[in-house]
Amino acid sequence: MKSFRHLSVQLLLLATLFPILALCYINPATTSIHQNATKSSAYRAYIVLVQPPPSNAGEDAHHQWYESFLSTSLAGDSRKSRLLYSYTEVFNGFAVRLTDAELDKVSKKPGFVRAFPDQTLQLMTTHTPEFLGLRNGTGFWSQADYGKGVIIGLLDSGIYAAHASFNDHGVPPPPARWKGSCDAARCNNKLIGAKSLIADHDSDDEQGHGTHTSSTAAGNFVTGASYNGVGTGTAVGIAPSAHIAMYKVCDARDCKASAILAGLEEAIKDGVDVLSLSLGSSTGASFDQDPISIGAFSAVSKGILVVCAAGNNGPIQSSVTNEAPWLLTVAASSVDRSFSVNIHLGNGKTIDGEALTQIGNPRSKLHSLLYSKEWRYCNYDYDNSITGKILLCKDNKSRAQRSKIRNIVGAGATGVVLFNDEISGYTTTVTDYNSSVVQVTAADGEALIAYIALTDNSSMASLAYNGTQFGVRPAPVVTSFSSRGPSSLAPNILKPDILAPGLNILAAWPSKTGHGQGSFTIISGTSMATPHVSGVAALIKGIHPDWSPATIKSAILTTSDIINGTGGSILDEQHRKASVYDTGAGHVNPPRAADPGLVYDLSVIDYAGYICWLLGDIGLATIVHNSSLSCAKLPKVQDVQLNYPTITVPLTSTQFTVNRTVTNVGPAESTFKVKVDVPRSLTVRVIPDTMSFSKTGEKKTFSVSVSSLELGKELYVDGTLSWVSEKHVVRSPIIVVPA
Ligand SMILES: *[C@@H]1O[C@H](CO)[C@@H](O)[C@H](O)[C@H]1NC(C)=O
Ligand SMILES: *[C@@H]1O[C@H](CO)[C@@H](O)[C@H](O)[C@H]1NC(C)=O
Ligand SMILES: *[C@@H]1O[C@H](CO)[C@@H](O)[C@H](O)[C@H]1NC(C)=O
Ligand SMILES: *[C@@H]1O[C@H](CO)[C@@H](O)[C@H](O)[C@H]1NC(C)=O
Ligand SMILES: *[C@@H]1O[C@H](CO)[C@@H](O)[C@H](O)[C@H]1NC(C)=O
Ligand SMILES: *[C@@H]1O[C@H](CO)[C@@H](O)[C@H](O)[C@H]1NC(C)=O
Ligand SMILES: *[C@@H]1O[C@H](CO)[C@@H](O)[C@H](O)[C@H]1NC(C)=O
Ligand SMILES: *[C@@H]1O[C@H](CO)[C@@H](O)[C@H](O)[C@H]1NC(C)=O
Ligand SMILES: *[C@@H]1O[C@H](CO)[C@@H](O)[C@H](O)[C@H]1NC(C)=O
Repeated sequence: MKSFRHLSVQLLLLATLFPILALCYINPATTSIHQNATKSSAYRAYIVLVQPPPSNAGEDAHHQWYESFLSTSLAGDSRKSRLLYSYTEVFNGFAVRLTDAELDKVSKKPGFVRAFPDQTLQLMTTHTPEFLGLRNGTGFWSQADYGKGVIIGLLDSGIYAAHASFNDHGVPPPPARWKGSCDAARCNNKLIGAKSLIADHDSDDEQGHGTHTSSTAAGNFVTGASYNGVGTGTAVGIAPSAHIAMYKVCDARDCKASAILAGLEEAIKDGVDVLSLSLGSSTGASFDQDPISIGAFSAVSKGILVVCAAGNNGPIQSSVTNEAPWLLTVAASSVDRSFSVNIHLGNGKTIDGEALTQIGNPRSKLHSLLYSKEWRYCNYDYDNSITGKILLCKDNKSRAQRSKIRNIVGAGATGVVLFNDEISGYTTTVTDYNSSVVQVTAADGEALIAYIALTDNSSMASLAYNGTQFGVRPAPVVTSFSSRGPSSLAPNILKPDILAPGLNILAAWPSKTGHGQGSFTIISGTSMATPHVSGVAALIKGIHPDWSPATIKSAILTTSDIINGTGGSILDEQHRKASVYDTGAGHVNPPRAADPGLVYDLSVIDYAGYICWLLGDIGLATIVHNSSLSCAKLPKVQDVQLNYPTITVPLTSTQFTVNRTVTNVGPAESTFKVKVDVPRSLTVRVIPDTMSFSKTGEKKTFSVSVSSLELGKELYVDGTLSWVSEKHVVRSPIIVVPA
């Protein structure tokens, strides 16, 4: 009776709420808004969400229930082949190819919740563990037992199973709770799961991306790894003894939302501990129309931490994707390594460049250095004027330019110095040109142009290849491509959450594809930053198996760094002080993350209250899909009041107060004092200013009240709020935004 009443409430809300959800398919019976008014007889893939089956008894009941939506709506012959996936874990529903007329019929059936068109999403080291403070045989790595017993699931392009990084030396058999299966060419205690969710594909990696991300998260030790002799060293992932389970949801080109949901479905059933998603959409669809937000919620409610890429659409403001508060959203930074080439100029000055192809004479003689505004993209004709010269050109990041450069060097130019465009600034994404090309920053490009202008085309330069250098400063620096906050869907919840290495990352690569020679390659993206954090989460999970996803996330955020190794601010791609919307809470610091002292926890009920506040019952039904919950019975949670480990406060004419509750996960007896560091224009009051705990697991609530005479011209003002004990500093960024 209870659930029946609930059902009618939802249906009522469906009718009234659907018209404002523009991207979503709308039942033509209740409204006339439709994406395409002309009826198409072409098939299109839809993801269809329905109520739970009337009798909730196992998978068979589910499938019969789903079948009942299709049996009278679809022409009988092709019904089976048009059902793409059916889901029970991520929500009740299925993916199916339908004509417009068939979708109309399906949507009129009792129990239909909503449908949205399938969509396409994009896939967006020898050294990084050391840069992150992980060293063999010592400290955090051995304390966490290198991630033994923890299962990292990846949704990606598949995996090249035979790669040396996936050897299982020192890795124990999977835990008894593991229910997955592995269809790869080599399955072992390292690679315990491999499945393809794409029809007519096996779990092999034609693309390379999934092999790279898997080895970054949990690749085992491989000595003597390098890319064509650069970056030589021992390649290893962040959690070298953790298990890997690959769910192939992307082919060589892209990833379909329906396959991603199927991958999440399998990963939840199989029992992974951490999920790593180096993919995302750029549509900015509402949380209840975004497959990753919906599917990941089910994973989080089963205790699985879901780590996602922030996107590669930076440095544009509000370009962040995967922004739901139940996700851990990762931005990308540089590391302190460079593939060094010194450009010695005729005037005695030297400019530091980088080259992935370290060829050429280390002490080569001086050549004429040429720049012409007309040929600035290296669009030179092949004539004698370029023979024996070094050409200065601006990177336009096109395939056409890459092939042009190879050709002009082949035709007799000595080399090319390629400078970044203004937007990339100091972010040099090294590219393999397989010829003598040196990449420099935008600022060094300007300096070289100025030098050439001053010397009237009699300028000279030589290139000295100097191999892989470490200790490069400043590092970390936020990359230009890393997507930025604030989130457009949830502006009062800080996104991205965390910064991790994602520029010029060396990791495993299938040896048979053409992209990288040998079995390692160097690529960049928030895709590369994400598995670093998934690996850190696995190490923490290994030490604290009972910690919730929100607890692990809080631990990673509140222990991160906002200053670099020498105490300076972390910079952005223009070498300005990075903003909180570039870095999130800060740069990940794995050795500190397993011992945060206090954590900001969140349960399904907290998230559900937030979803009710933001999206109402239809959002609750789609994302949380637990029929014993309804917004009428849940306390609504305003965005700023969600118990998030970062704090955003709207500035009102009077003071505004937000509450947070912390849980003691450190020593039983500990006392924390508050330390607030904000600009003078703000008045911040924290009550109480001291918290004493006597038990592990004890919770205490504090309130933060903010007032100010005015924000001035700033879009926001930020600072930090830290709880400090003898052993711990629990730091949260505090961001004050106009109300
Ligand atoms: C409907 O879709 C068809 C086929 O894709 C297209 O040609 C037509 O312009 C669309 N009509 C509207 C109103 O968008
Ligand atoms: C680091 O430790 C692992 C596990 O103890 C071992 O297998 C590996 O060979 C070591 N690597 C180096 C470079 O010392
Ligand atoms: C980039 O450079 C190449 C050749 O150097 C040229 O063919 C192409 O048109 C340029 N593209 C843009 C967008 O400027
Ligand atoms: C790189 O260039 C050399 C000659 O310059 C050529 O032999 C080799 O095949 C090239 N490699 C690739 C991957 O294109
Ligand atoms: C420098 O050389 C380029 C390319 O040959 C030419 O276009 C330009 O006019 C020269 N500049 C001067 C100042 O001679
Ligand atoms: C070249 O590399 C060596 C170490 O490999 C380093 O000591 C030296 O300073 C580098 N030279 C330049 C000019 O950067
Ligand atoms: C730290 O950042 C400052 C600028 O904020 C920079 O001058 C310094 O070189 C950086 N140090 C390191 C180790 O990157
Ligand atoms: C639904 O929510 C209720 C109340 O919080 C909870 O007891 C139950 O376990 C949830 N059901 C599922 C399937 O998560
Ligand atoms: C915050 O906490 C204070 C004191 O416990 C309480 O009075 C107030 O209602 C709380 N505010 C919210 C929004 O929960």
